[in-house]
Amino acid sequence: PNNLYGASRENSSGVDWGNPQQLAEQIASLQKSGELPHAAPSTLVGKIESTPHEVRNPANLSELVGYVSAASKEDIALAFDKAGQARKAWDDAGATHRAACLVGAADKLRAHRAELVRLLVKEAGKTLPDAIAEVREAEDFCRYYAAQAREHFAEPTVLPGPTGEDNKLSLRGRGVFACISPWNFPLAIFLGQVTAALVAGNSVVAKPAESTPLVAALAVRLLHEAGVPRDVLHFVPAAGKMFGEVALKHPALGGVCFTGSTSTAQFINRALAARDGAIVPLIAETGGINAMIVDSSALLEQVADDVLTSAFTSAGQRCSALRLLFVQDDVADRLIELIAGGMNELHIGDPSLPSTDVGPVINQSAASKLEDYSKKVTQKGVKMLKQCDLNQVRTEGSYFAPRMLELNNARELTSEEFGPILHVVRFKRENLQSDVLAAIREAGYGLTLGVHTRIESVWQEIVAEAAVGNIYINRNMIGAVVGVQPFGGEGLSGTGPKAGGPHYLFRFATERTLTVNT
Ligand code: NAD
Ligand code: ALA
Repeated sequence: PNNLYGASRENSSGVDWGNPQQLAEQIASLQKSGELPHAAPSTLVGKIESTPHEVRNPANLSELVGYVSAASKEDIALAFDKAGQARKAWDDAGATHRAACLVGAADKLRAHRAELVRLLVKEAGKTLPDAIAEVREAEDFCRYYAAQAREHFAEPTVLPGPTGEDNKLSLRGRGVFACISPWNFPLAIFLGQVTAALVAGNSVVAKPAESTPLVAALAVRLLHEAGVPRDVLHFVPAAGKMFGEVALKHPALGGVCFTGSTSTAQFINRALAARDGAIVPLIAETGGINAMIVDSSALLEQVADDVLTSAFTSAGQRCSALRLLFVQDDVADRLIELIAGGMNELHIGDPSLPSTDVGPVINQSAASKLEDYSKKVTQKGVKMLKQCDLNQVRTEGSYFAPRMLELNNARELTSEEFGPILHVVRFKRENLQSDVLAAIREAGYGLTLGVHTRIESVWQEIVAEAAVGNIYINRNMIGAVVGVQPFGGEGLSGTGPKAGGPHYLFRFATERTLTVNT
């Protein structure tokens, strides 16, 4: 099918869980023998460190998954120098060539799915369904951006003008893009940023999150094998602060594509503003305090299911995850009971088992932070409605028991708590504007919003008021699909444009008009 802008869209296939052979193959692929992967900067000034950092499985901290050697400041600077030199030839090579490289990369992702899934499970603690979905999303990004680039970047647009004059508008790369990504989608977001920047004609210095360099390193290898020159795409595993100190000041920097927390985006924004010389744009996709609003007409069994999916899938470590559930007081007790019942059924544990619903959080420091938050607010009087039992978890990992808390007022939640914590607030129908919509607006975030109601005018009233990027009515609110639900927020949640949407690539490009007097 064609989308609004004419570029064809083809989403990738998954694993058929009903097919015992496919399932068995997927599970078997989680075992790997032989040498452990080692992620290293693609531009190495010195030697690979003799004692590299160990990458461990968050679900079982005794399991070593691989190693990473961090880039030095010199490595980072050299990556920008080389990317700066390589970028013109890549831009001149044209969008058709660059798109072909992305399609080649998509084919390679499909061919290496088992290995990628294994790394996502072992390095990032992803459950099997999450890991499979993430490889699909990464492949979708490659094909979608390739199609968009062929459509809009391959040939200049001829513009109307006076007789005797030819006018053309063309799109070119901006230079070297720094792509900075988070650990919670270490393949899809990492690759989505990188492929968009590349196909628009930029060279790229790609920095993965500290916790998840291995799957990102494999993705870069596949892009190189698919034809992206090594000097056009540099892989730089590094601590965020140090990377920022070099990258954000480097003269070759032409743009920054960042996904992560709001506070880091604000820091980068300030650093870019303080630069001398050319003005460097920032594309930032950040966090959210995402709400779902449930009125008394909603189908509560469906709501409970959608709440469990939205709040606890991926151990709540999605920027899109539900944090704040507003429920109309008439139905609140019943809905809380249904959600608590569903929480009893959640399988928490080893993410490599197909039966697991909730895996670990990314590391022990994340688990402790969530525990501290939970303890602090319950000591201050916030009611614990339900906490899952962790007894079934046998391995030594970074686990945090999903929980449901009740707030008296939505304004008590002032920060994004990045894990499986659901906050419930009751509201009266007559206070929808003052207690619900005003509270969402005042928080300043605008990433995802869910609404459950069977009254069309209710969701229309909410949609008219909400400054939120992705709104879902009568369904769960996670798992945006490339080309179907372009993803990204507003306000404290980011600058746009939406990843996986028809306007994304344009922000990576600069426009030039050429006027010829004939
Ligand atoms: P983070 O902000 O701590 O880190 C993100 C990336 O920025 C990492 O690679 C990190 O090393 C780097 N970084 C940190 N300081 C830096 C600096 N001074 N200069 C340059 N780079 C720096 O975020 P995180 O903990 O990795 O990810 C979780 C956050 O990401 C959550 O807030 C979540 O909501 C958000 N997120 C948003 C989206 C979205 O699409 N809106 C998607 C996924 C995650
Ligand atoms: N794009 C991801 C989702 O929608 C974060 O859940």
